[in-house]
Amino acid sequence: MNAPQALSDYAHLVQTDRIHGSIYTDPAIFEQEMARIFHRAWLCLGHEAEIPQPGDFRATTLGRQPVLMVRGDDGQVRVFMNRCRHRGMTLCEDETGNEKFLRCWYHGWVYRNTGELEDVPLANAYGAQFRREDFGLTPVPRMESYRGFVFASLAPTGQSLLEHLGLARRYLDIFLDASPTGEIDVTAGVHRTRYRGNWKFVGMDGYHPHYTHRSVMDSWKRRPGGNMANLHHGDPFSDESGNLTRDAGNGHVLLDMFPSRLAHVDEYLGGIRKRPGGEDYIAAMQEAHGPQRARELLAWAGDPHVGIYPNLQLIGIQIRIIRPLAVDDTEVLMFPALLKDVPPSINEMRLRQHESFYGPAGAGAPDDAEIFERNQQGLGATVEPWVYLARGLERERQDTDGSIIGMPGDETTQRGQLREWKRMMSEA
Ligand code: FES
Ligand SMILES: [Fe+2]
Repeated sequence: MNAPQALSDYAHLVQTDRIHGSIYTDPAIFEQEMARIFHRAWLCLGHEAEIPQPGDFRATTLGRQPVLMVRGDDGQVRVFMNRCRHRGMTLCEDETGNEKFLRCWYHGWVYRNTGELEDVPLANAYGAQFRREDFGLTPVPRMESYRGFVFASLAPTGQSLLEHLGLARRYLDIFLDASPTGEIDVTAGVHRTRYRGNWKFVGMDGYHPHYTHRSVMDSWKRRPGGNMANLHHGDPFSDESGNLTRDAGNGHVLLDMFPSRLAHVDEYLGGIRKRPGGEDYIAAMQEAHGPQRARELLAWAGDPHVGIYPNLQLIGIQIRIIRPLAVDDTEVLMFPALLKDVPPSINEMRLRQHESFYGPAGAGAPDDAEIFERNQQGLGATVEPWVYLARGLERERQDTDGSIIGMPGDETTQRGQLREWKRMMSEA
């Protein structure tokens, strides 16, 4: 099947209540996703706290293109194309490291960690016209950061990062402001998952936990005084929980569990108080944010459970980056973020919460990878090709801030993501 070229084709493939399964299986559509979404939109590369020291770098990708996020000796974080200006070799083979100079393995050109070309072996062969200052590393066309979250785009023009984030910006704040100083530490490492399924399966589905994660939910029920180390009380995905699915626009969507967390915040804070330094943490939050905002932030627990379209999700304590590798091959990087300026017992609690669900020994994330692979296999049956996404369509409504809200298991989130997918794919 050829990729649809015209806008009307995408309008057909993504309808309000159903989508065509080919958007998960057709390699030609995947090629267009690379060109129209991943080589054009704002993508999150990670957080500056991953590279805290001068010279720290992370080699990563923008869609298919290799890039390098590096903190220079001047302390500034930059994003360069990971490509030697001589004949185009990738400069960094390691994913992470610390270098004052980056030396190309091929012919030895040497660059500063601020991007300037420092040295060319046997440079006199280039003649008098050759100027080293013309051959610094190429910056990515656009880069902006929001409170340390580094975003880049291969499109030289387009909406600003703040316009792109829109209403979802507040959820990045919620993630960071679980620390009284708003600072995080992202040097704990990374959990990686790679599954044989499409990238659009990942995250923001409030309908599946009772079934896909049944064993986890059952164990939560047996745990006295709450679950996920007291992060949730009761069943956060039930219609009775008061929780919501929320479509914040531009493809940014969340499982909004704030209502039930606020209702149980005093129990949650009771658990925090029992930890060494817990009282100090609560007092520092109140000092930094005032009593009302501190209470809200503590109820959120730094966990907005939000997907920032298309490749960033902030779930639990993790910064999750989604990397599509092929139409049926996806890598997910999960960076646990610790809070700066809090007692160690708070970070210990956060890490244990993360490990209980995510990572190779986690009780939940392996379920998801397995389900995504089976979903990909099932979509290989094309006699009846439609995927049905109408759940909650008739009862969703607009909230006061303009976002669209549904019940916890409603497919408001999927509809919000796919509406943005259709818009991006239809843009010339
Ligand atoms: S390709 Fe890098 S020095 Fe030649
Ligand atoms: Fe899941």
